[in-house]
Amino acid sequence: MDYNNIIVGQHNSITTITINRPTKLNALNKETIQELHEAFKATNKDENTKVIILVGSGEKAFVAGADISEFSSFSAKEGAKLAAKGQDLLFNFVENLGTPVIAAVNGFALGGGLELAMACHFRVASDNAKMGLPEVSLGVIPGYGGTQRLPNLIGKGRAMELIMTAGMIDSNQALNYGLVNHVTTPEDLLPFCEKIASKILRNSPVAISAAIKAINANDTDGINGFDVEIKEFGKSFGTEDFKEGTTAFLQKRKANFPGK
Ligand code: COA
Repeated sequence: MDYNNIIVGQHNSITTITINRPTKLNALNKETIQELHEAFKATNKDENTKVIILVGSGEKAFVAGADISEFSSFSAKEGAKLAAKGQDLLFNFVENLGTPVIAAVNGFALGGGLELAMACHFRVASDNAKMGLPEVSLGVIPGYGGTQRLPNLIGKGRAMELIMTAGMIDSNQALNYGLVNHVTTPEDLLPFCEKIASKILRNSPVAISAAIKAINANDTDGINGFDVEIKEFGKSFGTEDFKEGTTAFLQKRKANFPGK
């Protein structure tokens, strides 16, 4: 499929989705959000993809936020619709994807950019990255899940301060806060993410998908995560991957998971 704002490439069961609006620091306009939705949906269905890496094009930005020029004249009703649609199409969609998604934060991740990185399953940043939710400096609040995911990841007090000050933190502070798992040089960012992906590739994709579901149940209102875990754990016993994983262990060989 052809896209105007993103590039999709595949290599060794890893699909890299690159947000490609470098002259606008990869800001998320409506079309980019729709294209990302289509790309994530198609990639999740693609049997040859086991891990997805999301990155921004250029050396300056992962994503510098939602495209401010698109919503500056919106009414309250239009604003609410923008947030609801974006959360549904992209942010919640990515968080609940069965295929693991790694955010490679290669520069500014601000507003919707940090919200997108936080919706990914985990994050690796380059040492030139800067992260923040500066929405209150524009007279608005984070609308793509930032007020919920940031406190979950770094704690309520730190999230309050970062949002209220509209400040930016660098990669080392983000590492210290647990917002990102690793920091690399800009050149090493994608190879490092691919190295982590290659470790994921050795394991059962069906079990990984079930683990994502159970982990996400931890912070979903009205859902008991322990119950989800019990259900997903039980379901694992009926999969071909379980038979292969346990048989391979007992036969002292490497598992070759069918992904079923
Ligand atoms: N929405 C729309 N356009 C954006 C954008 C955004 N969130 N962030 C950057 N851009 C555009 C700029 O308007 C500029 O376009 P132009 O060259 O056509 O004027 C281009 O990207 C480059 O940005 P610029 O501001 O010139 O780069 P800089 O290096 O001086 O500053 C930032 C970088 C990230 C500090 C600055 O772009 C910024 O503050 N962006 C907005 C961040 C934000 O508030 N995000 C939350 C949105 S809810």
